[in-house]
Amino acid sequence: MVREWDARTASSAEIASLLDTLNAVLAADLPQDPPWRESSLREYLTEVMPGQRRISWVAQGEPAADGSPGAILGQVHVLLLGDIGVLEVLVHPSVRRSGLGRELVRVAARRVYQEGFSSIGAEVVGDTPAVGFYEALGFTREYVETRSVLDLSTVDWAELAEMAGGIGAGYHLEFHPGGPPDELIEAYARAKAEVRDIEDGELRPSSYDAQRLRDSLDCLHRRGMKPYIVLALHEQTGEVAGLTEVVVPAQHPTRADQYDTIVVQDHRGYGIDRAIKARMLIELRSAEPELAEVQTWNAQANEAMLKVNAELGYRPDRDWCEYSVDVAELVHRLDAAR
Ligand SMILES: CC(C)(COP(=O)(O)OP(=O)(O)OC[C@H]1O[C@@H](n2cnc3c(N)ncnc32)[C@H](O)[C@@H]1OP(=O)(O)O)[C@@H](O)C(=O)NCCC(=O)NCCS
Repeated sequence: MVREWDARTASSAEIASLLDTLNAVLAADLPQDPPWRESSLREYLTEVMPGQRRISWVAQGEPAADGSPGAILGQVHVLLLGDIGVLEVLVHPSVRRSGLGRELVRVAARRVYQEGFSSIGAEVVGDTPAVGFYEALGFTREYVETRSVLDLSTVDWAELAEMAGGIGAGYHLEFHPGGPPDELIEAYARAKAEVRDIEDGELRPSSYDAQRLRDSLDCLHRRGMKPYIVLALHEQTGEVAGLTEVVVPAQHPTRADQYDTIVVQDHRGYGIDRAIKARMLIELRSAEPELAEVQTWNAQANEAMLKVNAELGYRPDRDWCEYSVDVAELVHRLDAAR
């Protein structure tokens, strides 16, 4: 049975059942990824940025003989933002290839269509059943990034300390757990805005003006995701010359996510990328003792950044693809296939 579902008001048993399904999916499709925990999972599924909406549906199994509710065997949600709906779908490995994934997408796509959105996007992990699934539904690949993972137990900390110190004269580094301090928000947003024009096609969320940045940090905190930031400040102008952001999610605190790393055009060639990332790892080592790995996503064309990541010890893991489809076509195709 597929029904609309709101994580905000769902019972704890439903949240726990969804977590079981998510972890069964990870064990089947991404066995090297750490299982998720229940901490802040409800908030993770509920909280959104201002102006965004998330709508969810679940597929629930039959009630047990004693009347207790059936397990959550599948889930789909769409995040409505701008003019696009971003879709995520999960089906428990024990009930795959029976049409449930297709049915979940059909229900979500109809709503996205009714809400007047024209396209649907989805992140698809390379080498998993999701590739064949989305392609069978008519989605096409827009963009591919590589996910790389750094195992902190392999890091040479002395070498890293040297990298962190190897920055050109006239710059200094600052570490800010929780996000940039208020007095640097404007300069921070300016650094992000400049690079926006240069590096297109980012998969990670990014914020380019001060208010949007505050909203985005606030949303991360509400979702149980702790941001850490290292900045390179240009001493002469007080400008943010470079920044790197890592988020430690309460849901999988042993593996952190690298968000943006940016070195502003005028400040390239001074070792800032290497130094800010090295300093970040050193800081995380003491701030987050449970942390064992960091994962990052890079465009395959971004050779300079891939080179620095390789020096730090990141190992390429998988393709991470962005797919999209025209909503009207998808609704038509799925309705016709019923
Ligand atoms: C992708 C997923 C939702 C598919 O669910 P499902 O219920 O098995 O899908 P369906 O049975 O509706 O399949 C519909 C069509 O998709 C295609 N498809 C599905 N799985 C496929 C696979 N493993 N290989 C090739 N094609 C596949 C087929 O064409 C299938 O039709 P068919 O069975 O008649 O041939 C499911 O595998 C899943 O949850 N994957 C994890 C998704 C995810 O986001 N993971 C994130 C962490 S890895």
